[in-house]
Amino acid sequence: MSQHTINSKEQIEQITLKIITSYRHLSEEEMDWIALLQDIQDQFRYLPPDGLKLCARELNVPLSQLYSIATFYTCFSLAPRGKTEIQVCMGTACHIRGAEPILDKILQQLALNPGETSPDLEYSLETVNCVGACARGPLVIINSNYYGNLTMGQVENLLSKTRDINGEGKNG
Ligand code: FES
Repeated sequence: MSQHTINSKEQIEQITLKIITSYRHLSEEEMDWIALLQDIQDQFRYLPPDGLKLCARELNVPLSQLYSIATFYTCFSLAPRGKTEIQVCMGTACHIRGAEPILDKILQQLALNPGETSPDLEYSLETVNCVGACARGPLVIINSNYYGNLTMGQVENLLSKTRDINGEGKNG
């Protein structure tokens, strides 16, 4: 998805309707609500309330059912997410191996706190607990790619690389 801004209600409904259309032929038993929500999230990087309302209306399902799925699975977000999602592992092994200064560096560079998304929707930052790659700590995950055994210098490079990829073309 290439949009960097929050879509208007009309845009959300138009895009969501296209997705809904590809699910309409499924019977109630065949319907895969998780896949539907995943398709919507892939488009917007979160589940917009207007999209969920439209699904409920068009597919005749209680809105509460969609919200139950959306809140049960951690892969779904009900708030807009940044184009670059950064997760810093703060599990015990990563902590011992130096995760804290790495996190401090990222906080300082992005001017974000964990759990926040930048107003331009470029970055979201989260801390996570052990992701099962302790030998590679300290570890940062950027858009599902793992970067392990990080040094402070590498963090800086990594962040400027994501800036380049995002096409910001500016410093700081
Ligand atoms: S503590 Fe970070 S991967 Fe295990």
